Amino acid sequence: MSEYDVKDLKLSELGKERILWADRSMPVLKSIRDRFKNEKPLNGIRISACLHVTAETANLMRTLQEGGADTLLCASNPLSTQDDVAASLVNDFNIKTFSINGEDNDTYYSHIKSALDHHPHITFDDGADLVSMLHSDYESQISEVKCSMEETTTGVIRLEAMKEDGALKIPVVAVNDANSKHLFDNRYGTGQSTIDGIIRATDILLAGKKFVVGGYGMCGRGLAARAKGMGAHVIVTEVNPLRALEAAMDGFEVMSMIDASKSSDIFCTVTGNTTILGSEHFSNMKDGAIVANSGHFNVEVDLESLKNISKKVNLGVRDFVDEYILQNGNRIYVLGDGRLINLVAAEGHPASVMDMSFSVQALMAEFTTQNDLDISVHTVPKKIDELVAKLKLDSMGISIDTLTSKQTKYLASWQEGT
Ligand code: ADE
Repeated sequence: MSEYDVKDLKLSELGKERILWADRSMPVLKSIRDRFKNEKPLNGIRISACLHVTAETANLMRTLQEGGADTLLCASNPLSTQDDVAASLVNDFNIKTFSINGEDNDTYYSHIKSALDHHPHITFDDGADLVSMLHSDYESQISEVKCSMEETTTGVIRLEAMKEDGALKIPVVAVNDANSKHLFDNRYGTGQSTIDGIIRATDILLAGKKFVVGGYGMCGRGLAARAKGMGAHVIVTEVNPLRALEAAMDGFEVMSMIDASKSSDIFCTVTGNTTILGSEHFSNMKDGAIVANSGHFNVEVDLESLKNISKKVNLGVRDFVDEYILQNGNRIYVLGDGRLINLVAAEGHPASVMDMSFSVQALMAEFTTQNDLDISVHTVPKKIDELVAKLKLDSMGISIDTLTSKQTKYLASWQEGT
């Protein structure tokens, strides 16, 4: 098997600069890498990771490699690969890498196959594509896999569905569900990088615009808060009454998508579900409406039905912007082909928040080599979750109070009341 498939190894110099630049903002991961270098907790372990191929992911792969693992990386999305980073991983860090920005579906899946041909003991996923292929085309290798980590909400939902179906055959860890991951990465990471992607693609002024956020999970909360901070009038759509109520009490206008579609300027979906924007919404939209998605899969915006109701499509009117002209002459601008705009048009979450997510990933890789987990979807142990938060606080120069012995005793008692 060839050890890599990347766009151009000559891009590696730029990629290395980018990886080292990100590393400066990933002090927690760096401290884990330094420890791994001495202790080698992953000696003899083969790891295959199917993640967004970014500078931040490169630093995770370096950490796993320093821990002694034989590492391979492939893309978890055809459009999110940073080709210079992929080149540097091969050239400068000797990490097997299979990913090319813009790869077609066949190449995308052939790269996941290469990851499984590596015969991993531990796998990492961002969206569960690798684990899904392991359970279908690579069933014979299932017993070789000790554990798999899942990075994102959508992947955890897929894995829970596999478990419910009785289809899950390996232990998996829902890294996404760790507090030190989703409270920060999903909220502040998605919030900022989605705005970044929309602005890089369109150069639009957000102040004064009506900005619709589809979904008020952690990502939606972050996006709504950031859009508001830029002066947009934010409208939230939801199906969950508790989340809708929370959005309303957070000060956002809440309404159905059909109502929102009549008068808004920008629509961004972050639900993890399918067909949030369909023909009934597109045909309501005003001329010049902008449509983007920041959820994991490109199923949230129904582009097929938009194509069907359009009389003309002008691809690439700017980088990452396609123009759909409806029968009534209205133009709708779709960003990044409906794929996650923060990674397609921008650079994904900033390194300092990926520092926490990927530190959890690295520590869980170590944990699963030392512990036998049963076949289920596991949460990250509280000790590891809190350790990552503590290390991050330390790296930010923030010290916090500790419980006094009187307080510890009080919390453990039940006799003391009014
Ligand atoms: N997911 C979101 N942002 C990311 C990044 N910068 N690197 C890897 N995965 C990501």
